[in-house]
Amino acid sequence: MTIASAASKVILFGEHAVVYGRPAVAVPVSEVRAWAEVTTVLSDRGILIHAEDLGRSFRLDDPPDETILPLQEAVRNTVRTLHFPVEALSLEVRLRSRVPMARGMGSGASVATALVRAVGKHLCHDMDPAQASALVFQVERILHGTPSGIDNTVIAYEKPLWYRQGEVIFLRLGEPLHLVIGDSGTPSRTRDTVAHVRTQYQADPATVEAIFDAIARCVEAGREALEQGNPITLGGLLSENHALLQRLGVSSEKLDTLVMAARRAGALGAKLTGGGGGGCMLALAFEEDVPAISEALKAAGAQNVYYTMVM
Ligand code: MEV
Repeated sequence: MTIASAASKVILFGEHAVVYGRPAVAVPVSEVRAWAEVTTVLSDRGILIHAEDLGRSFRLDDPPDETILPLQEAVRNTVRTLHFPVEALSLEVRLRSRVPMARGMGSGASVATALVRAVGKHLCHDMDPAQASALVFQVERILHGTPSGIDNTVIAYEKPLWYRQGEVIFLRLGEPLHLVIGDSGTPSRTRDTVAHVRTQYQADPATVEAIFDAIARCVEAGREALEQGNPITLGGLLSENHALLQRLGVSSEKLDTLVMAARRAGALGAKLTGGGGGGCMLALAFEEDVPAISEALKAAGAQNVYYTMVM
């Protein structure tokens, strides 16, 4: 049996604007992961996939639907890239994930990364991050149409990074970051919020461009604050980025409530993360304030709270 896993992620600065060529900064969430196990089976020819979180078991050559197609394609592309004849393989693949689905933490990219790594490793190929990222980018395309590429990149490399249109700069953090992530409990598909922003953009390109430029300034200042280890500045910039996302119409009442609750409980700054419209928010904290902020988020209705320290 071969096992591989992948982290999840949060975007600190620049979601949505990154789809329009602006930079963004993302960090991995190594504590919240997805796993894939691959076993060779002798009795039966073909590839059988059990996706536990989707509650589905299916074969590689089953008629695809929206849910299973990305996973089927991830396996097919991996096997093809490694020059194996897919018809000759008899495999059973089991997928498990602790990454909440449709919550802005990159669950699709995380499961797909674990999957391509496990299939690659089972076929005796240690997938490097660039190769895994490229394979998962194809899956992201199926999942949400016009991905910027930041999710597959940060998950495959599992390092804090600045990203713009395929260009990547790994960041050396001046100080470890303590992030509390609150799940609003409302699923929201990235595809839908990206489409919502596109509608806004088409209706009023000048205003939306100006918001994207303001977000880009948060990204660049945020990167500097991260590298210098300046949490106070960083917190202010996170909150500023949240206000700009509110203007894009991708926050929600619940996300705003959680953001406010985190700030009142002592967070240095807080914002929604990922596509928005539901999903998760994050709060930057001094380490000693993490328990109080976590409690405040739960009291304000967070379905789940995660803590990660990023170095
Ligand atoms: C999703 O995690 C981030 C978005 O900017 C979409 C993308 O970058 O592809 C909303």
